[in-house]
Amino acid sequence: MTLLDENKHDELRAEGFDAKLWRDLLTYTKPHKRVVFALMLVAMMTGAIDAAFPMLTRDVIDTVAAQGMAADLSTLGVRYAVLVACLALCIFTFIMLAGWLRTSLSYDIREAGFAKLQELSFSYFDERPVGWLMARMTSDCDRLANILVWGVLLDMVWGTSVMVATVSAMIYLDASLALIVLMVVPLLAWISHVFQRKILKAARHVRGFNSRITASFNESVMGLRTTKAFVREDADLGEFKNLSGDMWQASVRNAVLSAAFLPLVLSLCSLAIGLGVAVGGDRALSGAMSLGTLIAFVTYASRLFDPMQEMAVVFAEMQMAQAAGERVLGLIGTEAAVRDRDDVAARIAANVPRDGLAEDGLPDRVDAIAWRDVSFGYGDGPRVLDGINLEIASGSTIALVGPTGGGKSTFVGLLSRFYEPTAGAIEVGGVEYRERSLRWWQSQFASVLQDPHLFSGTVRENIRYGKLDASDDDVEDAARTVGAHAFVEQLDDGYDTEVGEGGDRLSTGEKQLVSFARALLADPAILIMDEATSSIDTETERRIQSAIDCVLEDRTCILIAHRLSTVRRADQILVIDEGRIVERGTHRELLDHGGRYAELWGQQVSPGDSRPIGVTA
Ligand SMILES: Nc1ncnc2c1ncn2[C@@H]1O[C@H](COP(=O)(O)OP(=O)(O)O)[C@@H](O)[C@H]1O
Ligand SMILES: [Mg+2]
Repeated sequence: MTLLDENKHDELRAEGFDAKLWRDLLTYTKPHKRVVFALMLVAMMTGAIDAAFPMLTRDVIDTVAAQGMAADLSTLGVRYAVLVACLALCIFTFIMLAGWLRTSLSYDIREAGFAKLQELSFSYFDERPVGWLMARMTSDCDRLANILVWGVLLDMVWGTSVMVATVSAMIYLDASLALIVLMVVPLLAWISHVFQRKILKAARHVRGFNSRITASFNESVMGLRTTKAFVREDADLGEFKNLSGDMWQASVRNAVLSAAFLPLVLSLCSLAIGLGVAVGGDRALSGAMSLGTLIAFVTYASRLFDPMQEMAVVFAEMQMAQAAGERVLGLIGTEAAVRDRDDVAARIAANVPRDGLAEDGLPDRVDAIAWRDVSFGYGDGPRVLDGINLEIASGSTIALVGPTGGGKSTFVGLLSRFYEPTAGAIEVGGVEYRERSLRWWQSQFASVLQDPHLFSGTVRENIRYGKLDASDDDVEDAARTVGAHAFVEQLDDGYDTEVGEGGDRLSTGEKQLVSFARALLADPAILIMDEATSSIDTETERRIQSAIDCVLEDRTCILIAHRLSTVRRADQILVIDEGRIVERGTHRELLDHGGRYAELWGQQVSPGDSRPIGVTA
């Protein structure tokens, strides 16, 4: 089952109650102890006040019965007014407190999750779709905070206190009669529990089908051209009918359950009340019990059901939300696969900053990099890189070429330590890079990627992302150097043009130029260009070729490109295929060798021209 499938189904998995999970979730209320305490107190008071009204009724009836029309009900009236005022105040307070607490909890849990997401390694994100993570951070967090506050802290506490107060009042009024009536309570509790769970589950089913029908509808409408082109209309209609049929069944089931539940519960309640009236009425007739007491008693008996049903709903909700809780706590509890080793972290903590030294106490300068027998596979997957040996002199340019899927981007991911080798070692200045600070190492890089990411904001802000304290002039200089200035000037607001979410108001080529300027401004020790010019047209690339050369000067650079014209000046060219270096050397050496590189070069030289596409003489 894929993660998305699992997500779709675990809503419906009402498993046993997981007390530990809820205890763990409740630890998030710790920073708000006072509010939690106040909320529980108010919930308890609300329950107690709720239960006090029948007592008042009893006193009114008994007073009138004893004194007739001469009875003075003013003190009782005052008592009633006070009770109502208290109840109003309590309700106002708990709605306010609960709202505040719910928002705070949701915020806290989300913040913990977000902090973790920043820290987790790429391998974590490989396995989880963005949509899945978004759902965890938004709806799961909100849902848990809601249930914790409104369900656990409010309804459960309120329900318990109403039950306790009601039962106490009944025992106080007439203990033996109370025992008789309360006999139905366990049965009532059990039925409420079972039915609420089933009803909720059926409702979720219906909702699940509903969203799938919407999705299928959406897909069909959006993909209508394709559907028609492939004459798939009938098949799609069939799928739609199936889904609708399933939804119909789930809805009917839901209706049947809801329909059966209420009469069942009402009958049981009536039985209890009937018992109370029969036995109590007998006692009232014989004078052993006042009329007011009998009425109060029967009122209590009829009210037992409310809190019980409320609590059964919360309990069922909690069981349904357990999967969400597990997912969120699981996310927060995940350890990053790539992180500082304990001894390195200790070294960083103990380090006193000194000139020329990085935070881990070792040299700040990036020296020669060496790959020693490095192999790598994603997760449990096959080897993607196999026995790579390589020396990268400081300040040199290494070009990687070869077929798609050969492992070039993986090479870069390993070098940047987004992933670590499964075998072998990568050394920097003779020190294995796992002995170094992860933050220090990753801050040495800037990259321009095939599909560059821009943040929503202006062009200027996006370039400045490379170096936050750069002046406007620095930003424009960087843009000029990489040949981005001309197109930026032509945008409506120049450098202040909003690029939209993910930069989607710019073309890929324009995004590449902006991220190129950003990387240049960052002035990193190691520059990575992974098919960075793939979406820039040959004309522009030709224009900025000298800028590229100037950017590459004096810094270590890893250059991945399909257009060989871009890589011919590299100090070392590696041809990578199926995870191995199959050829290496300079452009001249490789052409003389007459192997794969020479063959590729030959294919890219335009016919009747001795120069390959995109190369100026
Ligand atoms: N995140 C990933 N998880 C699993 N497999 C991956 C991942 N990224 C790449 N691969 C696989 O690794 C191989 C090399 O991919 P890549 O390094 O992107 O090649 P290139 O950049 O040379 O086109 C491919 O078979 C690809 O399917
Ligand atoms: Mg790639």
